[in-house]
Amino acid sequence: MSRNISLLSGKKHHKKSLFEKIALSPSQESDNKIAHEYNMGVSTIHSTKSFYDFLDKDFKTKKAFACIGSACLCRGTQDTVLNTLNDKFGSENVGEMVCLGRCYENSAFHYDGKNYSGQDINNLDQIIDGNHISSEYTMESYADTSFLVEEEVFSTYENFKELLKDCLSSDKSDLISTLKESGLRGRGGAGFPTGMKWEFCQAQKETTKYVVCNADEGDPGAFSDRYLLEQQALKVLFGMIACGYVIGSKQGFLYIRGEYPDSIETINNALVKLRELDLLGDNILGTGFDFDMSVVAGQGAYICGEETALIASIEGRRAEVDVRPPFPTVEGLYKKPTVVNNVESLAAVAVIFKLGEMPFKSIGNGKSTGTKLISLDGYFNNSGLYEVNMATPLDYIIDEIGGGFNDDIKAIQVGGPLGGIVPVEILRTLTLDFETFDGAGFLLGHASFVCIPRSFSAVEYAKHLFAFTAHESCGKCFPCRLGSTRGKEMLQSSLDNNQKFSEELMNDLLETMESGSLCALGGGLPLPIKNLLEHCSEEFEPFMEK
Ligand SMILES: Cc1cc2nc3c(=O)[nH]c(=O)nc-3n(C[C@H](O)[C@H](O)[C@H](O)COP(=O)(O)O)c2cc1C
Ligand code: SF4
Repeated sequence: MSRNISLLSGKKHHKKSLFEKIALSPSQESDNKIAHEYNMGVSTIHSTKSFYDFLDKDFKTKKAFACIGSACLCRGTQDTVLNTLNDKFGSENVGEMVCLGRCYENSAFHYDGKNYSGQDINNLDQIIDGNHISSEYTMESYADTSFLVEEEVFSTYENFKELLKDCLSSDKSDLISTLKESGLRGRGGAGFPTGMKWEFCQAQKETTKYVVCNADEGDPGAFSDRYLLEQQALKVLFGMIACGYVIGSKQGFLYIRGEYPDSIETINNALVKLRELDLLGDNILGTGFDFDMSVVAGQGAYICGEETALIASIEGRRAEVDVRPPFPTVEGLYKKPTVVNNVESLAAVAVIFKLGEMPFKSIGNGKSTGTKLISLDGYFNNSGLYEVNMATPLDYIIDEIGGGFNDDIKAIQVGGPLGGIVPVEILRTLTLDFETFDGAGFLLGHASFVCIPRSFSAVEYAKHLFAFTAHESCGKCFPCRLGSTRGKEMLQSSLDNNQKFSEELMNDLLETMESGSLCALGGGLPLPIKNLLEHCSEEFEPFMEK
């Protein structure tokens, strides 16, 4: 059934996503029209609509939204934000969003298509009058060679044009070799070698292929992709065009989360400019290569970051995870070979093609090469966005780059809601790379750092993670769908009534989720929960029956 929807969706308008039409459809009448146009039942359109937070009728009536992401939660800023928004707009007009990517100063909220944070909440009247611009964050490179933060390369369309000319006259096999030699591993979480992914897709015999940029950065605590989309858009777009050229694709999509309105606007503006300059579209720079791309705005579903759910979403399906294999490189968007790459991976590709593989390869530990963006939350004295060498010692990151903490921090969750929760003293012994994190049983993910202060209850944090997964679960498999809800309930009732939960039952639940979930949302949640149970056991004792 879902296969038919993919095929119908791609057959009609493979350049414009059905999802965008569904998201913009204002009425039952227009739902019927879309269904007719795509030869689908109207129930398919309704089923999609009902999946996404932003498409919910209730959500659309809200005027402002408070961020309920992990970093803002731990910082304890959101009661004030919520109260201020409620006072101004009325509580029935205030909703919630996760996460707005402003973890460096917290107090994050969304109003009228823009995000705000820090002291902005004290300027609500000026914001409403259109007289207030939110401040930006610190960004700096500590890397030996900067690939991601550096301004010179790709800073102008003129630069872009020259580099694109070079790229489009290069031998495709050479470009793949450069990428493989550089050692670049995907920055979206799994760390799959990017050169190999492109090679697999290039080898497919199909004539229609797609490039998809995964810009659904949903991990609370992470704002590195947001930075690249808004400040280094040309690097990301160059990476996509280069991918299209290498694998033989004419069409790309950037799936950008709806919580990042500025990212969507920046990228859309850049695409218009690239088309004007003949750097996108038919016969780019007279090379005979056709490639165009468009933005698909997410509608508030964390699971759309998972690549098969993301593909389902572009196709206008519910964003349910698909079983792999087949992997997207063989059967992806509209069932055609597709490269799905993270924003940071694509930006890195662009600079690797400019500088060659050596500068990238020479940084790191040999297996995790190049540089990595890290997002430091508001508990660091120097919160912000930094580029570091792979394999940088964590104590250097904490003390020298982050400037230490401005509170007593007991643990840090690195790499999003599925990442390990590492006591600070253990974290200080690690280096920032895939191998060290894997070896210690943690996850590098997007390398976002969410600090948990001593004063924040570990049981509350565990409940927050269960609740997050329960809300974001795509519902396809029961260990995740039911397990996350049961876990949340167990912790909630122990917190509410001081009623102890069974340790045995909790362990069973975690094991079932870990071994029985189809994807890393349900399968990954047990890691941080187990970390909390182990490292903060004394906090769980009053709530847990042995
Ligand atoms: C629950 C879940 C959420 C994910 N979220 C993201 C995301 O926000 N951004 C991303 O690039 N990859 C995310 N991924 C990983 C993607 O499925 C995929 O591996 C990645 O986009 C591939 O790009 P890369 O090879 O450049 O890393 C997520 C995976 C899972 C299981
Ligand atoms: S683990 Fe959760 S998110 Fe992943 S497929 Fe199963 S229900 Fe969906």
